[in-house]
Amino acid sequence: MRSLPVLLLAFFAVHNVQTARILGLFPHSGKSHQMVFDPLLRTLAERGHDVTVVSFFPIKDPPANYTIVSLEGIATLGLETIDLSYFDSPNKVLKVLGIEKILKQITEFQPLADLALGICSKIVEFNPLADVLKKSYDVLLVENFNSDCMLGLAHVYGLKAPYISLSSSALMQWSPDRIGVTDNPSYVPIMSSDFTSKMNFFQRLENTVMNVYYKIWYRYAIQLKEKAIIEKRFGRRIPDLQEFAKNVSLALVNTFHSMNGVRPLLPGLIEVGGMHLDHTRKPIPHYMERFLNESEHGVVLFSWGSLIKTASIPKYKEDIIVNALSKLKQRVIWKYEDSDEEGTLTGNILKVKWIPQYELLQHPKVIAFIGHGGLLGMTEAVSAGKPMLIVPFYGDQPLNGAAAAAVGLGKAISYADMSEKTLLEGLQSVLSAEMRISARRASKIWHDRLADPLDTAVYWVERVIRWGDQDPLHSTARDLTFIEHNLLDVAAVILLAVIVLILVLRIVLYQILRVLGASMSKKEKLH
Ligand SMILES: *[C@@H]1O[C@H](CO)[C@@H](O)[C@H](O)[C@H]1NC(C)=O
Ligand SMILES: *[C@@H]1O[C@H](CO)[C@@H](O)[C@H](O)[C@H]1NC(C)=O
Ligand SMILES: *[C@@H]1O[C@H](CO)[C@@H](O)[C@H](O)[C@H]1NC(C)=O
Repeated sequence: MRSLPVLLLAFFAVHNVQTARILGLFPHSGKSHQMVFDPLLRTLAERGHDVTVVSFFPIKDPPANYTIVSLEGIATLGLETIDLSYFDSPNKVLKVLGIEKILKQITEFQPLADLALGICSKIVEFNPLADVLKKSYDVLLVENFNSDCMLGLAHVYGLKAPYISLSSSALMQWSPDRIGVTDNPSYVPIMSSDFTSKMNFFQRLENTVMNVYYKIWYRYAIQLKEKAIIEKRFGRRIPDLQEFAKNVSLALVNTFHSMNGVRPLLPGLIEVGGMHLDHTRKPIPHYMERFLNESEHGVVLFSWGSLIKTASIPKYKEDIIVNALSKLKQRVIWKYEDSDEEGTLTGNILKVKWIPQYELLQHPKVIAFIGHGGLLGMTEAVSAGKPMLIVPFYGDQPLNGAAAAAVGLGKAISYADMSEKTLLEGLQSVLSAEMRISARRASKIWHDRLADPLDTAVYWVERVIRWGDQDPLHSTARDLTFIEHNLLDVAAVILLAVIVLILVLRIVLYQILRVLGASMSKKEKLH
């Protein structure tokens, strides 16, 4: 029989978890990121926790015990803001030199620094945030993307609680070191590449250079500058933000190996890809449903997500797309902002302002998806078992596209080089019977897990609340220096030992030969 103290302890552990105080800090202004986290935050509140959420996108109808601190108005929001003409002019000279893709990645990341620093310099002055940071919590949930400003602020206000990082994508390049998981560039592709884990020599070379570049870039372009912003505002020195970053207890990432590719994991690095999927079905508008019902050969759903402004597409590119799509026997629903209330129908293409994307993907008449490789849309398509044609633009989209193609979920084609021919060939391959079967199988594998991803995320958050520091989930690799981590000191000693050994052997051999030589010439003299 268990003793009373143990029972009491167990009671308090469980009791504590039931009423934990949780603070979520989400300083990024892209809506798709927040869409990944909201279901977890809502579920934690519904389970009786006291949840406070600081975000640019406050949820509507929050449950009880869910406090919102809105960052709205601090920065412009990322919604239908990306102009497609930006992706239209790949530089021919750079392309010949083979560095066009690298420069594209580098220039693409710069705005993330401007965004992070802009937001950081606003939130250090934001009183509603200061008010919540002064309270105490059992755990912090912090988005891990392009900023560590919140971690520095939490320190300034004396907030002491284990922290969990949330990623709406695979880990950013600067994140593996925080939890001590390997990101060896010989087989872990960086997140802005279009590589898979099997790379040839030149890909490994690029992957290695970019792996190192991003870490240095993040440190100097963001982390040290955020530290300076906080120190200037509060008029005192604070520890290196990387020290706080490396204190992460658990990292939740929005991936799952069967879609995103197999990568090294740790007990504290948990894949929860699919946790944002909404299991309550929203209705499909009547006119869209009729369009689906009346299609003879099925419908292809076409959406480039919430950030890209589809209507900014250059005329010649739109012609390429329309020409290719109109050659299909299937119908097409295209998310396109500039369309009529009930959609604009041209031939087999229905342009609509807004789509209930996941509901449509689950509709039996929808047989394929044209997307941009954003992780949310891809997750919905894999969950619904529909093959995809991916036209990646920026960020992790090329990587997602390459991973999906590698596991038989679809195909990826280039936007810059897109022609009627490449688009049509891509569509035909995605619409083929083999690809549709392969996508259904990939979907079954993706769904086959011990627990639903949202339940998994809730379990791990509560586990950190229960045990905190007493149950470390990271690897101590994060505490090693570069030299120790890569065993350069050990390699140096072994190399030295080998050299010494060779030298000693040489001397010994030389002496033996000399003695032998001497005794031989002695014998010769005797004769
Ligand atoms: C709200 O939180 C308090 C404790 O912080 C708890 O007693 C109460 O049951 C919670 N309410 C709901 C509806 O979960
Ligand atoms: C790391 O977190 C623990 C609590 O989980 C805290 O005691 C410690 O002070 C933190 N270290 C830093 C550098 O913030
Ligand atoms: C579409 O078909 C379904 C099933 O046959 C039916 O229930 C629904 O009413 C139809 N919707 C429209 C708008 O025709």
